[in-house]
Amino acid sequence: MVINSRTEADTERAGFILAQKLTGGDVVALRGGLGVGKTVFTRGLARGLGVNARVVSPTYNIVNEYEGRLPLFHFDMYRMGGGVRTEQELFDIGFDEYFERGGVVCIEWSELAEDALPSGAVRDSIEATSDDTRAITIEGISLDDAGV
Ligand SMILES: Nc1ncnc2c1ncn2[C@@H]1O[C@H](COP(=O)(O)OP(=O)(O)OP(=O)(O)O)[C@@H](O)[C@H]1O
Ligand SMILES: [Mg+2]
Repeated sequence: MVINSRTEADTERAGFILAQKLTGGDVVALRGGLGVGKTVFTRGLARGLGVNARVVSPTYNIVNEYEGRLPLFHFDMYRMGGGVRTEQELFDIGFDEYFERGGVVCIEWSELAEDALPSGAVRDSIEATSDDTRAITIEGISLDDAGV
């Protein structure tokens, strides 16, 4: 489905709504350009998972962990080298093990680690349609009854 966002709050709300549908072990793969709203979306997702802590981009440490109704593991692949180097870095941080920890794994810049994503990942692509508007395309999960 496509959600049209007109404000930062709309994008946060979309993340919040998606969170209501998630269970432990789910993976949300975010993509879109630089500064498009992936972290904003993740903030809403975190709130929807009952995370009280302030969510900041994990750009410099690859993953941040938060306690909530479900734990949230927030990755940002931006600094990954791509290709074989990314595979090695993901192996080094035990990326696959995060899928088994009963939490939600949310990944910014997931396109840089495409080969490492599980087949059942929820796909969330954010596109800037103007300075302040975004088209948020969510695939791999149904939000039809979520009041979007
Ligand atoms: N409709 C909107 N939804 C989300 N963000 C918006 C919207 N309109 C404007 N913005 C602005 O876009 C920016 C999004 O920043 P954010 O850090 O979430 O992007 P990002 O995709 O995580 O960037 P990065 O690629 O650096 O990780 C914010 O400055 C926000 O205020
Ligand atoms: Mg970000």
